[in-house]
Amino acid sequence: MKIGNLDLGHKPLLLAPMEDVTDSPFRTICRRKGANIVYTEFISSEAIIRDSDQAMHKMDFSEKERPFGVQIFGGREEAMDGAARIAESNNPDVVDINFGCPVYKIVKKGAGSACLKDMGLMERMAGSVVDAVENKPVTVKTRLGWDYRTIKIQEAALMLQDLGVKALTVHARTRNQKYKGDAQWQWLKKLKNTPGLEIPVIGNGDVTTPQDAKRMFDETGVDGVMIGRGAIGNPWIFERAHHYIETGELLPEPTVDDRIELCADQLRRSVDHHGERYGVIIMKKHYGQYLKGVRNSRQLRAAIMEEKEMQPILDLLFQFKDQKMYAEAS
Ligand SMILES: Cc1cc2nc3c(=O)[nH]c(=O)nc-3n(C[C@H](O)[C@H](O)[C@H](O)COP(=O)(O)O)c2cc1C
Repeated sequence: MKIGNLDLGHKPLLLAPMEDVTDSPFRTICRRKGANIVYTEFISSEAIIRDSDQAMHKMDFSEKERPFGVQIFGGREEAMDGAARIAESNNPDVVDINFGCPVYKIVKKGAGSACLKDMGLMERMAGSVVDAVENKPVTVKTRLGWDYRTIKIQEAALMLQDLGVKALTVHARTRNQKYKGDAQWQWLKKLKNTPGLEIPVIGNGDVTTPQDAKRMFDETGVDGVMIGRGAIGNPWIFERAHHYIETGELLPEPTVDDRIELCADQLRRSVDHHGERYGVIIMKKHYGQYLKGVRNSRQLRAAIMEEKEMQPILDLLFQFKDQKMYAEAS
């Protein structure tokens, strides 16, 4: 699959943008574990043009993450134009536009999934970004539509292709579904079969196992599969899904020791990247998933959540691992 000139190989697996989750440390780990491209969380175009420290920090990345995309959102053409130029000057591989965020406070400003209600708005926003970005491919991530009655994803895809958008990711839910109900993969197949649609379509929604990833490719014909929640605390999903798609063989799940070591590795990177205070806070989104299903981990999780510094958390994690507390009768 190619996004413009960027070749992501056959049946690529993409790490989904996720607010407060897909920071540079997590993206680096996911790339190492086989994600073919990774994205920043969505970054406000208004914050970017204001030169907000927080927004600029969200755009920081290391060379090890490449290929890497910056995702921006907004409801004003001038802000999207300016933010897209600044994002490009930061030298990512892709600039991605968020037309999918369902959150009310974003939508009411005409940003995120508001564009699903107003194709003219989508056209103007995407057009301003495509015009502003000179040398990098522009991509879009969106949902099926605003609600079931108004799904216009095929029309939207053709319009975006005409504007010069180089790939389209679709979370196969409507805005009104938010995260509820199953993702409607049948729409991905319809989209892939749209006459005249040539840009790659990346499917997204409810891929949490290697088998799901293969099934999404097989059932819908999408060019790439994007994984969000299924990668949190589980970056192995990328290498395990690649292996399963290539060979039909399911690699074993990571051991508890593997999980604790990778969790500790991410914590160290997180503190290195964000500083001790925020680095420790942001990791709180990840422990539950790294330790999911691990026997006797409830107390460990509770103890970790109380800590404000890295070293006591590392001590707790390694004590649990080295003393094999997960093997004790509960
Ligand atoms: C915590 C969280 C934060 C998210 N933040 C973003 C975001 O910043 N930009 C975006 O396009 N989608 C965002 N999403 C949506 C995901 O990228 C993805 O489309 C959705 O979770 C469905 O994929 P999944 O079933 O593989 O998780 C977020 C989802 C979650 C769970």
